[in-house]
Amino acid sequence: MTKIKVAPSILSGDFANMAKSVKLAQKWGADYIHFDVMDGVYVNNITFGMPMCKAIKPYAKIPLDVHLMIVEPEKYVERFCDDGADIVTFHPDASKDVLATIQKIKNKGKKVGLVLNPDKPIDLILDYLDIIDMVLIMGVYPGFGGQKFIPEVLEKVKKIKELRPDMTIELDGGVNEQNAKEITDSGVTILVGGSSVFNSTNPKRTIRRLKGL
Ligand code: DX5
Ligand code: ZN
Repeated sequence: MTKIKVAPSILSGDFANMAKSVKLAQKWGADYIHFDVMDGVYVNNITFGMPMCKAIKPYAKIPLDVHLMIVEPEKYVERFCDDGADIVTFHPDASKDVLATIQKIKNKGKKVGLVLNPDKPIDLILDYLDIIDMVLIMGVYPGFGGQKFIPEVLEKVKKIKELRPDMTIELDGGVNEQNAKEITDSGVTILVGGSSVFNSTNPKRTIRRLKGL
């Protein structure tokens, strides 16, 4: 059985002390640090950008999984790679040139993934399945942590796994101890956990449970 990995989202961490949020997530057993970049245009919220990525990088002993919820990601992906991103995911519907954006990330030697919002079909990414490293399926409409998971998105996970059994699929939004098994049973191997991890009374146990351990 494939090992399930957990990527705590520091969007739910302490904004006054992001280094601490990173260190805590690692201590609790995180496999990646999920880094949610929002521009106030693609989504109705603003978080942080390249300088924050650079600032936390020295504290991250595990890969930084940078999720860009921004328009025209092609303008910024190289800077995120230079500032510490190990994986960069972006929304194809936000980009003017998806292929060029993928290539920019790959040319920096980083992993690349495409993200699908709950209302976006897999048709948007079919042309790129051979050249990307992962697919990120949104379990909520992006913008905020702490929203309720939309279970219908798992149909897309199953379809992608049928087409590409080896594709790594990450799921972001609304993941908790109760629904993690249903999500991983569908083929997801990386779970993002924002509020479920950072608001847990026992985050270490929560991460273990998300992993099905
Ligand atoms: C949603 C972000 C998510 C979010 C997840 O806009 O992309 O990464 O932080 O938070 P939870 O796990 O609380 O839904
Ligand atoms: Zn995210």
